[in-house]
Amino acid sequence: MSAADQVPLQIVAYCCHYCAYAAADLAGVLRLRYPGEPKIVELPCTGRLDVLEVLHAFEHGADGVMVAGCLEGDCHFQVGNLNARRRVAMVKDLLNQIGLEPERIEMFNMSSAMASQFAAAAEEMTARVRTLGPNPLREESVS
Ligand code: FES
Repeated sequence: MSAADQVPLQIVAYCCHYCAYAAADLAGVLRLRYPGEPKIVELPCTGRLDVLEVLHAFEHGADGVMVAGCLEGDCHFQVGNLNARRRVAMVKDLLNQIGLEPERIEMFNMSSAMASQFAAAAEEMTARVRTLGPNPLREESVS
């Protein structure tokens, strides 16, 4: 195990109240096992995802960000999840421009009943970010 494997990862999981947040809750009820690194921030809809807030998270050392919204066509606010997907693509571009890997952010879609998909998404993001290593901005933000 390398030193990078031992550094606790900081992953922010922006979850829609109607789907991913409930799916995470259900995963807990079902006692599904998934990594504890993603820390959930509940949004009323992923349409409320704020690009500046996501960039601040990276600036302050987040190693990864996952955004989890309703299935396409099922957003309670019509197109909130589609807007979120566009914003995630925008953040990927911005990360690329500043030399961070765009894979550090990803959008997922699920329903409130898809507990195992939430667990799989958390697993995927944690594994991906662990492979990428810590956010190089983290040290600068701590000092
Ligand atoms: Fe869930 Fe919009 S209400 S993504």
